[in-house]
Amino acid sequence: MPDSVPDPAPGTAPDSPVAVLRRAGACLAVDLAPLAGRGLPEVLHWGADLGPLTPGLAEHLRTTSVPAVPHSAPDAPRGFTVLPTQADAWAGTPGLSGHRAGTGTEPRLRLRGHRLHAGGTADTLVLDLHDPAVGISVELRYRLDAFGVLRARATATADTGTGTGTATGAGEPAPYDLSALRVLLPLPARACEVLDLTGRWVRERSPQRGPMRDGTLLRRALRGRPGHDSPLLAAAGTPGFGFGAGEVWAVHVAWSGDQEYLVERLPEGAGAHAAVLGGAEALRPGEVRLAPGAAYTGPEIVFCHSAAGLDGVSARLHESLRARPRHPARPRPIVLNTWEAVYFDHDLDRLRALADRAARVGVERFVLDDGWFRGRRHDRAGLGDWEVDPAVWPHGLDPIIDHVRALGMDFGLWVEPEMVNLDSDLARTDPTRLLHPEGDPGRTWRHQYVLDLARPDTWRLIHDRLDALLTRYPIAYVKWDHNRALYEPVHRAGPGPQEPPGGARRVPGVHRQTRAVYALLDALRERHPGVEFESCASGGARIDMGIIERAERVWASDCNDPVERQAIQRWTGLLLPPELVGAHVGPPTAHTTGRRTDLAFRLCTALFGHSGIEWDLTGCDEHELAALTAWTAMVREFRPLLRTGRTVRGEQTDPAALLHGVVAPGRDHALFCFAQVATAAAEQPGRTPLPGLDPDRRYTLRHRTELGDPTRGAATAPAWLRAGTAPPVLSGAALGALGVPMPRLLPAQAVLVEARAAD
Ligand code: DGJ
Repeated sequence: MPDSVPDPAPGTAPDSPVAVLRRAGACLAVDLAPLAGRGLPEVLHWGADLGPLTPGLAEHLRTTSVPAVPHSAPDAPRGFTVLPTQADAWAGTPGLSGHRAGTGTEPRLRLRGHRLHAGGTADTLVLDLHDPAVGISVELRYRLDAFGVLRARATATADTGTGTGTATGAGEPAPYDLSALRVLLPLPARACEVLDLTGRWVRERSPQRGPMRDGTLLRRALRGRPGHDSPLLAAAGTPGFGFGAGEVWAVHVAWSGDQEYLVERLPEGAGAHAAVLGGAEALRPGEVRLAPGAAYTGPEIVFCHSAAGLDGVSARLHESLRARPRHPARPRPIVLNTWEAVYFDHDLDRLRALADRAARVGVERFVLDDGWFRGRRHDRAGLGDWEVDPAVWPHGLDPIIDHVRALGMDFGLWVEPEMVNLDSDLARTDPTRLLHPEGDPGRTWRHQYVLDLARPDTWRLIHDRLDALLTRYPIAYVKWDHNRALYEPVHRAGPGPQEPPGGARRVPGVHRQTRAVYALLDALRERHPGVEFESCASGGARIDMGIIERAERVWASDCNDPVERQAIQRWTGLLLPPELVGAHVGPPTAHTTGRRTDLAFRLCTALFGHSGIEWDLTGCDEHELAALTAWTAMVREFRPLLRTGRTVRGEQTDPAALLHGVVAPGRDHALFCFAQVATAAAEQPGRTPLPGLDPDRRYTLRHRTELGDPTRGAATAPAWLRAGTAPPVLSGAALGALGVPMPRLLPAQAVLVEARAAD
């Protein structure tokens, strides 16, 4: 069932204190003056649309939201407020926590005002909360977009003026030391299973799932980036929820630094609700200290509910991303990335030969990866010196760029601007530019350190070097890498009011660093609006909606092994539509796993994303080049479908095989992939549903064999796949419920099935 219903008018029911956002089948209802509350608005509902709220219905919604008063509990009923704290008798993780020099630890916020904006593409509720005694205010801003995605953001501001909070000796209020500012929403009791993702290098986005339990499921990324193990989405759902069925409530933290995701259930529930879902930037001690008048705005916390399973959640998120003005509109150019083809061995003749082969098979963008800049013959030197290495490129990058462009491809370049090797002129000239505490610079990771980009002169230096490259050369694309986590990230702040004159304060650095990186990307993108960016972080360690505001692509993983990639892409697709997710055809033996796979399977896997090649094509034979040429033709044929369609994933009842596909918005066309990823216990997969089609239409199925036909000549193939059999025509209802029998393939084989509406 699609979630979408016509947009009703949002707003408060007349004469009712209930503020309602309703769009695309989703709804947030907030009681601005709760009956039993102490002054903070309470969340009455977040989830499926409740229909129009007349004043009478709104009133009944309020009265039925007052929970019972159990034994051994506060004497007044507890509601679940928009910023729950102990003042609401909330013993769970608070929405706001902090202090002023050890005081003001228990805020008692009250609603000071609210605004409800309706119309255009945004329906927005803004709540202004204030505690004059602690001297802190919080603005909560909820925007429900046209796709039913709820984007929430919190801002904490310290009061100005004297008399608020704890005064220092001089009479000035002490700064408000913010420990956490979370956006939390309630979950119903039926959301009793929890799913999120974890992972490691070359195995990003592994799902983990379990029952909701009392206690806190807290996923905190303290790596200065979301990490290979980023949850990506934390989802709670009805029993057995899957890709195509069940009700799901999900959250994503749109932030590229430290993050936290939280699912929490207390025995007493959360007001009339059962549990809580939310997220925040994870703040390090002392990271945000608000002087009078200063404010901190947290990242956007993105909430998404769907009654149509995880695919329903993804559909809302994908559509919401696709509606952004800077979402890539033109077809995604087919990439050749040089990394696994040549690594650091940059040689003009070799790269020209690679470019020749790339152009011959139909590549449209040639990306020169790591190894082109001063001293970068290996991964122990050079980071920070963003100038072309004259030892390798005596005539600069012109010879390779000219060659690539003459072949009709555009040119991309790899950089890693946040990092530095000690063996670089940058570090030798000024070793204080590194992000670390007093003393030695701490642990290396891939022999490198992190630059303190919140230091203005370092930011400017890196900006100017990158700007010079983008100005000097016709670079269409920047692959922006980030190959280490941030440990002990300490920023050297300039002299401040609370320190001895001339001394440098050492303060937590992740928040500042993340903002500085965003500012760097924003500045470069503004100066070079035609350039596209890719977010890479030793594979997929920085994938989030914060970075995707500044990048046209993410690199999902350094693993080009198609067996692993099937799963990595499947789960990355929970958040991102395929056109944003890089997917490369690698060599026969995967460099990161040592697994050998057929070319056909590698091609099928890399078809479902922003497609590319990462393979030394100069070693390919004619058969392989012909297969790649057929594949680039197929990429061009299907990329419009991938760019606009709805991602669907079959329920994975058999872990050895998976089914995924993309269905066009009008549901007249779809492409499905049935991929065998391991041997199976059962002899036959049997009928495999093809989800997402219009139940009332008939579809002709076509087995697309251009990339290979693993069933050819197999007497065991189901009849409909055998040569000479007329293509079957079945209704969308039959295909969704029953599907067609799939063959039992060998591991690392796949079948591509195209469905076209026959009427
Ligand atoms: C890690 C990336 O994920 C790879 O694709 C490659 O760009 C290397 N870094 C280069 O050092």
